[in-house]
Amino acid sequence: MSDSDRHPFLKGLSKHRGAPPTALVIFGASGDLTARKLVPALYNLAVDNLLPADFFLIGFGRKAMADEAFREAIRGSAREFSRRKPNPEIWQRIEENSFFLGGAYDEPEGFIELKKKIDELEKNLGRDLQSVFYISTPPSVFRPILDQLGGQGLARRHLRTRIESKVVIEKPFGRDLVSARELNAATARVFDERQVFRIDHYLGKETVQDLLVQRFANAIFEPLWNRRYVDCVQITVAEELGVGGRGGYYEGTGATRDMIQNHTMQLLALMAMEPPVTLDPESIRDEKVKLLKAVQPLRLEGEDSEVIRAQYGEGLIGGKKVPGYTQEDGVPGDSSTETYAALRLRINNWRWEGVPFYLRSGKRMARRVSEIAIQFKRPPGNLFAASDLINLAQNALVFQIQPDEGSTVLLNAKIPGLETRTQPVKMHFRYSTTFGSNTPEAYERLVLDAIIGDSTLFIRGDETEASWKLITPIHENWETLGRRGMESYAAGSWGPLAAERLLWENRHQWRRP
Ligand code: NDP
Ligand code: BG6
Repeated sequence: MSDSDRHPFLKGLSKHRGAPPTALVIFGASGDLTARKLVPALYNLAVDNLLPADFFLIGFGRKAMADEAFREAIRGSAREFSRRKPNPEIWQRIEENSFFLGGAYDEPEGFIELKKKIDELEKNLGRDLQSVFYISTPPSVFRPILDQLGGQGLARRHLRTRIESKVVIEKPFGRDLVSARELNAATARVFDERQVFRIDHYLGKETVQDLLVQRFANAIFEPLWNRRYVDCVQITVAEELGVGGRGGYYEGTGATRDMIQNHTMQLLALMAMEPPVTLDPESIRDEKVKLLKAVQPLRLEGEDSEVIRAQYGEGLIGGKKVPGYTQEDGVPGDSSTETYAALRLRINNWRWEGVPFYLRSGKRMARRVSEIAIQFKRPPGNLFAASDLINLAQNALVFQIQPDEGSTVLLNAKIPGLETRTQPVKMHFRYSTTFGSNTPEAYERLVLDAIIGDSTLFIRGDETEASWKLITPIHENWETLGRRGMESYAAGSWGPLAAERLLWENRHQWRRP
């Protein structure tokens, strides 16, 4: 093969000419996230020629592993989980630049070796390297790793140059407001905020990024985007999956910490925030924080309560019987961890005063679907309401985040014929039909953005605290209640009946997506 036929990645021609030579260090590299998401993301970035021309991967874990064994493990991950079949030549280039180091996360030795390894790579390359430290471990070791990165001088390498170190921190970022503040403070002792990339992978999803485009690149929505026209907003993040082998992790977490505090609150912020002044990261994040701060404290007690929690019981998923949550491995029979949560939020600002925002997320629900549905008010003085032949639905605009990505407008239309009869109809835009189906995975976008230093799709410290401020009182209340007030729902259903109560007060109903 002549050099001109070779893939540009093999010729060292990154499309991101600005992307500095990089050593990506993954802490927790033997784990599930690395195998299923991070390694396939790196491979697909290489295929799209988006990785820096000089790119090194260093896996770090508690147990020592030979470089060869690590290369074999990541080869298997790419084969099994990549959206595109690995091309051996491209893959080989990644592999030959991949290494593994063993060491404890809370002791200096491994980090001293890590510093030596990066120095050695720089020496051999004859150029300085940007270090991107990706913390992909359970949260219990986030802080020790940050401390060691600070203690061993890794965080301050090439500081204030375009190749200064960066740190990517996985979720969950804290368990409550106090621990999130502590983690922010620990991070700030070691890194400047501009070096910090807190991940919420929902922000990397194509459809979530498209939400900004749909809202601010089209003039037709803005006049309707307020309390005069919007009746309610429903945000659903539903999964068919149960907790599977993650019972141990999930039992100490629950749906509110695992999904609501981060993914659904981010969807809410992007959907409801004011237009940012520019598209730079700080302008967007300023607007999200303002929105989160305008959400009113939740009512937690009695008939008025704006929060519902529930656990799934036995049921049918895809026609197969599945166990209830408390029969899952690693879950005690008397668990008080919720696998479903629903909230009714009030936003106290000029745009949204009086519009209820309903959020729900659950495991083992009827269908995997994430969507934002904006339901509009009925037309005034309805000309058609008197006729029996009329079946009028409320207009709605639905953003389908996943699966079947796209958006839908729900309208009323006349059924052809001599009588005036109506029927709700749908106008669809589908990614798969318009753009084809092989869209990048969220982690591709996020890993690339961390490498090139674009923090737009990452969470700022004050944003995570604003969200925890709202969520923490819910957990404090549940801690005093134990299992009291825990509802149940059958696996494969749309959640507990009690969740309907949240909507009845305003004569709303949950959508059946
Ligand atoms: P794993 O449980 O697979 O752990 C990752 C690695 O961390 C392990 O391979 C292990 O590496 C090390 N580790 C595990 N337990 C401990 C412990 N108790 N103390 C110290 N180190 C430990 O986690 P995931 O890969 O699933 O997740 C990593 C991070 O990503 C978490 O913060 C998670 O919340 C987040 N995340 C994960 C998602 C997923 O789909 N898996 C999705 C979204 C976020 P070693 O033994 O080699 O040190
Ligand atoms: C993770 C949660 O953040 O998101 C998991 O920890 C959940 O419990 C997952 O399954 C859902 O992500 P996605 O992209 O499949 O909707």
